Amino acid sequence: MKFKTTPYHHDLLKDTDRLAVFYEAIEQYDSNTDLAYDLGCGSGVLSYFLSSKFKEVISIEADFKAFKCADENLANFDNVHVINSDVLEHDFTKKADLIVCEMLDTALIDEEEIPVLNYAKKFLKDSGIIIPQGIVNTVELVNMQRHHIHWDEGAKYDVLSDEMVYSQFNFLDDINPDFEADFKLKANKDGMLNGLKITTYTKLNDEIIAGPLPMLNPPLLIPLDERQIKVNDFIHVEIKYSMGKGIESIKTGYL
Ligand SMILES: C[S@@+](CC[C@H](N)C(=O)[O-])C[C@H]1O[C@@H](n2cnc3c(N)ncnc32)[C@H](O)[C@@H]1O
Repeated sequence: MKFKTTPYHHDLLKDTDRLAVFYEAIEQYDSNTDLAYDLGCGSGVLSYFLSSKFKEVISIEADFKAFKCADENLANFDNVHVINSDVLEHDFTKKADLIVCEMLDTALIDEEEIPVLNYAKKFLKDSGIIIPQGIVNTVELVNMQRHHIHWDEGAKYDVLSDEMVYSQFNFLDDINPDFEADFKLKANKDGMLNGLKITTYTKLNDEIIAGPLPMLNPPLLIPLDERQIKVNDFIHVEIKYSMGKGIESIKTGYL
């Protein structure tokens, strides 16, 4: 099937590993198959995967151009209804068996996954599930070349510590979007510390975990004030951000 897309949604489709993990998780879903919501459906590709498993699929997309593509792509599927709306303003009338919501971004900071799920979860049956089911975030100390917040898309950096899990979320839980944590990381080499690397692993279901992919949570590099460190030093760092409010909300510091 040929999909009409916007340039951004075309890049999302080209990341076939991203599509594969969502396809597998939807294929493995084997519970009640009445109604699924696809929140932030983009070009409609995940709704297309859902269409053969569910009696009804309701697909919601805020961006008008993407909505037009999805509406056209899925026009021949009588059980799929595509709606142009911000999920946060949509009046849901029915409870779903499954919510698929791919508004993911590294540590969920720059996209609305958490505000959208906190709202839309009220329209999930008690037995309902969410794909993906959650995420795990890790942090490492780094020396990075660019001194501003950026995603890991080829810029060089040197890792100065082991990787440590600092937070994890199950999307069925109520999640406070205002996040703060502090952690002690042990340097594994001498060097000039000037940043943190955040990596997000996506738990599609109990069996499928996706590491960072080009269009799914590429690692995020965040500056810290420069500090010369030595192997075995413990570095105590704090981080705060608001999930859904963008990378401008990130604050870091030493403790
Ligand atoms: C990462 S894209 C994923 C698109 C598609 N689900 C896929 O997997 O190819 C996230 C989509 O969510 C949409 N979106 C973001 N916030 C939204 C909101 N509050 N309500 C509806 N759509 C939203 C964006 O416009 C974008 O198309």
